[in-house]
Amino acid sequence: MTESLVEAKDIAKDFPDGTSYVNTVVQPSSCQIGCGDRIALTGPSGSGKSTLLYLLGGLDVPTRGVVTWPMRGPHEDLIPEKITYVFQSQSLFPALTVVENVALPLVVSGRQDFADQRSMALLAEFELDGLADKLPDELSGGQAQRVALARALVTQPLLILADEPTGQLDAATARSLIDVLLRHIEGTSTALLIATHDLKIAERMETQWSMRHGVLETDIRSSVELVAVK
Ligand SMILES: Nc1ncnc2c1ncn2[C@@H]1O[C@H](COP(=O)(O)OP(=O)(O)OP(=O)(O)O)[C@@H](O)[C@H]1O
Ligand SMILES: [Mg+2]
Repeated sequence: MTESLVEAKDIAKDFPDGTSYVNTVVQPSSCQIGCGDRIALTGPSGSGKSTLLYLLGGLDVPTRGVVTWPMRGPHEDLIPEKITYVFQSQSLFPALTVVENVALPLVVSGRQDFADQRSMALLAEFELDGLADKLPDELSGGQAQRVALARALVTQPLLILADEPTGQLDAATARSLIDVLLRHIEGTSTALLIATHDLKIAERMETQWSMRHGVLETDIRSSVELVAVK
């Protein structure tokens, strides 16, 4: 049986909306991610995708329900080498160079010794090695997104939560970036949950989840089955 990395049971998230009302942006939902899973999360803007990723990564806590990381230990132990996150918005540290940004998760995990070597190898895979010594301010939005993706891979994590990692890229560059990502984790037990508006990218994942008005649906037919019935 596949080892379970994240389990969410009846989680819901409310945000105050500035009046006496409460805005429930994730309706009670349950889901599970196992080793090696490749999951696409689609849904309209504002449907709650980013909020769900935050909850599954332990970056925020649900208002109701429970998220657990079986075998990974308690919330406090979710150090970057286990679960990594590609943020939807700009997330590079402005004072660090590109290669220092990519190496950072290894440095904070105390694995400084091979941090530069592995970071440079990843930058080369993403065809970013020529930018290694640049500062984030000197990058285009798309280049910064690719650096953030390289950073998410540097620790060889168990789970990558990628929030629209191709949102600032043209369609062709987006697809080639996903090619690099999928090739990099092929044959490993690293799981990937990718929130995306790009249905061509979503189709590349084996499993499809969708959100609409905060309601998560996880029993959509897999992309393999969708292709089979076309
Ligand atoms: N910190 C917050 N405080 C209040 N409301 C919030 C907060 N974060 C998100 N929301 C609200 O929750 C809803 C869902 O937002 P979320 O960012 O999860 O959507 P999304 O599906 O990721 O959208 P997009 O595709 O545009 O990225 C939105 O209505 C948003 O305004
Ligand atoms: Mg979002």
